Amino acid sequence: MADRNFTSSTREIPDVSAAPRHIAIIMDGNGRWARKRFMPRVAGHGRGVEAVRNVIRGCMERGVSHLTLFAFSSENWRRPADEVSFLMQLFMRSLQKEVDRLHQNGIRFRVIGDLSRFEAPLVEMIRNAERVTADNDKLTLTVAANYGGRWDIMQAVNRMLAKHPERRDDFTEEELAAELSLNYGPEPDLFIRTGGEKRISNFLLWQLAYTELYFTDVLWPDFDDAALDEAIRSYQSRERRFGRTSEQVQAAAKDPKAQAESRSRRSGGHA
Ligand code: IPE
Ligand code: IPE
Ligand code: MG
Repeated sequence: MADRNFTSSTREIPDVSAAPRHIAIIMDGNGRWARKRFMPRVAGHGRGVEAVRNVIRGCMERGVSHLTLFAFSSENWRRPADEVSFLMQLFMRSLQKEVDRLHQNGIRFRVIGDLSRFEAPLVEMIRNAERVTADNDKLTLTVAANYGGRWDIMQAVNRMLAKHPERRDDFTEEELAAELSLNYGPEPDLFIRTGGEKRISNFLLWQLAYTELYFTDVLWPDFDDAALDEAIRSYQSRERRFGRTSEQVQAAAKDPKAQAESRSRRSGGHA
């Protein structure tokens, strides 16, 4: 069920001087990291896990409450079979090794994506990790595995229609958003893609509508605290307007009354 405490971030302007509440990352560049060192591509994935550990800690230290990591896209099945199977093994091994530590650190662990293509023991391990960590609240760590933004929107539409077969054309954005896999957290404030590519690659299509985008050439295994700080600094230098003018945003920041007024005039009258 959706967590109703979170309104769409396009409805109100978060204070960018604070840490982003939700960071979503496309962890790209593992293969190139390894190739540069004349190592097999999969060695880069191994090192990528270390960068994951580090960024989880970094986010907790910086007061980020939600971190979402793209680990395997619905398109990544197109890779050579041995790389796909290495990635699955690595996911299993890492999960096995890390769940206790995640739990001890108060981290709630979730996986989003179409798990129907995964082998039963992996799915069982994922569901178990989710159960064990369900009540933790220091950080919500979501791993997107066999995830695609289009898949997510389609499954949400289908679920919404199945729940209300009697209705036809009066569904709202809120109802659809409540059926998306990531219905338990705020929309990402900051999106980071490492590895130099400037694309979304079918990640969180719905939720990234107003997210601040940050692209860096740093390859994922090299993404350290300094790189995270640079991304957050870039975020903190942005002005999030959600359609308003800069003058409106600045006036609202100084005057909470104007802020409330501007909220009630949100998105052209709907909701
Ligand atoms: C990202 O690194 C990891 C996954 C997609 C699983 P890549 O493996 O895409 O690395 P490059 O882009 O080939 O360097
Ligand atoms: C995107 O990386 C998915 C993950 C990081 C898991 P890719 O490296 O597969 O992205 P494209 O296909 O090059 O855009
Ligand atoms: Mg890549």
